[in-house]
Amino acid sequence: MAVQLQSPIIPLNRFNNLEISKFEVGKTLKTLHSKPYHIRKITNAESEAVLEHLRKYFFRDEPLNLAVKLIESPDSRCIELEEYSLKSIKEGNSIMAVTPCGKIVGVCLNGLINGKDTEEEETEECNDPKFAKILEILEYCGKEGTNAVLHKYPDIGKVMFVKILSTDTEWRGMGIARELLEYTRYGLLLYL
Ligand SMILES: CC(C)(COP(=O)(O)OP(=O)(O)OC[C@H]1O[C@@H](n2cnc3c(N)ncnc32)[C@H](O)[C@@H]1OP(=O)(O)O)[C@@H](O)C(=O)NCCC(=O)NCCS
Repeated sequence: MAVQLQSPIIPLNRFNNLEISKFEVGKTLKTLHSKPYHIRKITNAESEAVLEHLRKYFFRDEPLNLAVKLIESPDSRCIELEEYSLKSIKEGNSIMAVTPCGKIVGVCLNGLINGKDTEEEETEECNDPKFAKILEILEYCGKEGTNAVLHKYPDIGKVMFVKILSTDTEWRGMGIARELLEYTRYGLLLYL
């Protein structure tokens, strides 16, 4: 899918109609048994293994990364995206799907946005112009999405933001991404 990037980003006001209520806590967490993988939190010690997964899949085939040709050759890397991923892992709210033999087949990197500080959050300088474009979009979506949630629930302190969602190409179409999102919505919240 080709994605046309425009600069500056034109605010589309799409967040005004954001449908949030169907994801409210209180809906049941469907625990899926007898799957060839299980879902759990990522520890700091597993950062490199998670990065390996992301370098192989997400960095190469996520539509925005593809649109800006983030990874130009089989050997090239985007250190800024790696650092962005590591920062999310360090926060301790990211999860992955792992097979019984330890293969990572899905990754969901999450970050908590402090609702009260959305306006003051400073944008870190990014030296990679391609990734800087993507960051600009992510920050815009993070800010607008958070504002929409805070508008509906003014008393909440923090908002969970899914930053990266990735499934191994061999394991796509099996519901792993859906389950990672479900765990983020209902499972992770139990530990906060
Ligand atoms: C997008 C991605 C994470 C989906 O992973 P997956 O485990 O195959 O997804 P699931 O099997 O859980 O499918 C979940 C739903 O999303 C839909 N879906 C899956 N991939 C999709 C895509 N690329 N575009 C639109 N919808 C998609 C599925 O049809 C399914 O919907 P349904 O249940 O109504 O049929 C995977 O294709 C991927 O890693 N892509 C590259 C990275 C990326 O684009 N990440 C998303 C942005 S952060």
